[in-house]
Amino acid sequence: MTTHFGNPSSIYSFGRETRLAIETARKSVAKLLNAHPGEIFFTSGGTESNNTAIAAAIHDLGCKHIISSPIEHHAVLHTIEHYGVGDVSLSFVKLLSNGHVDLKDLEEQLALHEERCLVTLMHANNEIGNLLDINAVGDLCKKYNAIFHSDCVQTVGHYHLDLRKTPVHFISGSGHKFHGPKGVGILYVNDNVKIHPFILGGAQERNMRAGTENVYGIVGFAKALELAMNDHEKDSSYIQSLKTYMIGELRKNIKCISFNGDAEGRSLYTVLSAGFPKTEKSEMILFNLDINHICASGGSACTSGADQGSHVIQAINNNPNLVTVRFSFSKHNTKEEIDTVVAKLKELI
Ligand SMILES: Cc1ncc(COP(=O)(O)O)c(C=O)c1O
Repeated sequence: MTTHFGNPSSIYSFGRETRLAIETARKSVAKLLNAHPGEIFFTSGGTESNNTAIAAAIHDLGCKHIISSPIEHHAVLHTIEHYGVGDVSLSFVKLLSNGHVDLKDLEEQLALHEERCLVTLMHANNEIGNLLDINAVGDLCKKYNAIFHSDCVQTVGHYHLDLRKTPVHFISGSGHKFHGPKGVGILYVNDNVKIHPFILGGAQERNMRAGTENVYGIVGFAKALELAMNDHEKDSSYIQSLKTYMIGELRKNIKCISFNGDAEGRSLYTVLSAGFPKTEKSEMILFNLDINHICASGGSACTSGADQGSHVIQAINNNPNLVTVRFSFSKHNTKEEIDTVVAKLKELI
């Protein structure tokens, strides 16, 4: 920020340096996701990317029906509720008892609608961790000529995505989910779909997203993704071992503990959503964990502070007798920390 402060849109040398930094970052991100650099647009984060993909599918690609799920992040849910009015309709797929999308129901819905559909389903759920079979959904969308958007905010930087082989039109990613900077993300737009500019007023991002670029965010996003993918094999198996260890320790130490979603099956290695029997003590658990410097979430972190309960937990398991706590793991956590958390939970509950 003190040496490379040129505006990337300026034609003089200071500007050319930062332009080069952005384009190098785009190439690096594209390579790591096996996409073309022209398919990567830098945005302000997952929310903007989700909004843009959904709006483009409706306005530019002729989608008249939206199929989604009740457990999407609000960045998708609120957006489809906004656009799914008037001559655009909206429906939700059924969920199986473990929270996974019922693919049979998805196919039935796709077959039912003659008008073009937009399917927007997240690759991994940020609250319960369930992982979608993105290829199976993409193949169904192909079969029915539907547009497919997947919110991959929880998986970019955590899984190897090969976008040339994945049948998807749009994906969203966000830097701060893999130790990158906050306030920067990507929207991948497959070369085969042509959409109109989504922010007007300048030629940045090849005329698609006007406004002076977040150069430091973009460079940071690309570097963080590079680091995340370089160490992916080692880090993911270490983090998975932490999650597995915590499941075992919780079962050993807390009576009647349960886990939301498909925690031990097709699930993120970074998230564990636990259900504690509701008692006066467990209702205070998040507060008491915080006092003890243990950071955990109730519903979605993105709405923490608002005591509304979680729409995801409500959709998959509306059990009023359980208190949900979501633990997230990173490469910086240790087994000793898990021992501390479990001991504290035992004491608190
Ligand atoms: C699945 C998912 N989608 C979208 C978002 C929003 O992304 P951002 O905060 O980068 O706008 C989040 C959380 O932050 C998320 O977990």
